[in-house]
Amino acid sequence: MNKKVAVYRLEHFNAAHRLHNPEWDEAKNQDIFGKCNNPNFHGHNYNLEVRVAGEIDDKTGYVFDMKILSDIIKEHILDEFDHKNLNLDVPEFKNLNPTAENIITVIHSKLSKAINNSQLDLRVRLYETERNYVEYPA
Ligand code: NI
Repeated sequence: MNKKVAVYRLEHFNAAHRLHNPEWDEAKNQDIFGKCNNPNFHGHNYNLEVRVAGEIDDKTGYVFDMKILSDIIKEHILDEFDHKNLNLDVPEFKNLNPTAENIITVIHSKLSKAINNSQLDLRVRLYETERNYVEYPA
């Protein structure tokens, strides 16, 4: 068994969202989500960290080709999310509140499908602000 290494790629996108639960009235939404419930949306500069762990390949010396990883993130995440309104422009959030928690599970699912390799362990982190970030899987 070859040595296992984790490789990381950092990416960035800007997106707008609104946190809202349609099952609640305005007062409850305001109480729970505060400013993030603003009907006219607000934006974040999201930083995304993608971690791929696995064995070093004998032939390439890579765990995963970083150019391919970068292309996958661009195609499946950045092109879909960057400069978009997550609630209105991204189908996954039509009926899913775009909290950092829900965004990161959507990102993980999209990347996981695109990488399509059960030998590799994918873990993603999303920084919504410098101090608030989420990780999946937990
Ligand atoms: Ni927000």
